[in-house]
Amino acid sequence: MITLGIDIGGSATKGALVDTVSGRMVSDRIRFETEAPVKPREVAALVEKIRKKLGYHGPIGAGYPGVVKNGVALTAANLHKNWIGTDVGALIYNQTGQITTVLNDADAAGLAEMRFGVEEARRHKTVLFLTIGTGIGSALFVNGHLLPNTELGHLKIRGKDAEHRASDAVRQRDNLSWKRWGKAFTELLQTYEFLFNPDLIILGGGISSKYDSFAEYLKVDTKILPAKLENTAGIIGAGMAAQESSELRDQESSAS
Ligand code: BGC
Repeated sequence: MITLGIDIGGSATKGALVDTVSGRMVSDRIRFETEAPVKPREVAALVEKIRKKLGYHGPIGAGYPGVVKNGVALTAANLHKNWIGTDVGALIYNQTGQITTVLNDADAAGLAEMRFGVEEARRHKTVLFLTIGTGIGSALFVNGHLLPNTELGHLKIRGKDAEHRASDAVRQRDNLSWKRWGKAFTELLQTYEFLFNPDLIILGGGISSKYDSFAEYLKVDTKILPAKLENTAGIIGAGMAAQESSELRDQESSAS
């Protein structure tokens, strides 16, 4: 099945058609940069632009960078505060006319990575997936099952949000060397390790393609692997979520 996967971000909204069987993008990735802090209506208009450009009709999946419950955004760390309380699924549906499933962006990326990315992830009991970009997102899997909406980027470490210590945005803003950033990020990893004792940590987001530059500076006992799908995971995972919801709707309607 082909669906439209959307990745809403602090600095850009991206989308592509996703083949949910192979886990691949089957169109160009369309990306629109936005000025921070982006508002809900601006993003909905961009999703419609992406949909039209791709000539797509069908279920949409969207990864949102905050806590999402039943399609409603409950937080908005790197976006406009107007998002809080917004039914993001309804917002996008009203703009596009297509049924839309919304989930946390790191959860979406983690789901894609577990299914189509790092192969050995499926052999571990507890896997912590982290995405490092404007913020730090997390997805925690136990026996392949996701615990949704973990917000480990906002865990306070020595009084400060983890993502304010070692996101990729902080690295770029402060012009940190890989060594210095690696040291700051190690503090986060050691805290997560202490609290959750995962068997594997996967690092995703744009930074995962530069893994070789900083791997030597990460000092933890847990095995770490870079994500395979890099920054396409969010779109692919959102596309997968759209397909799963569409299957559920079909099952419900054939049962009634
Ligand atoms: C948000 C998370 C999100 C992460 C990555 C954080 O600021 O709170 O929900 O997954 O950024 O976008």
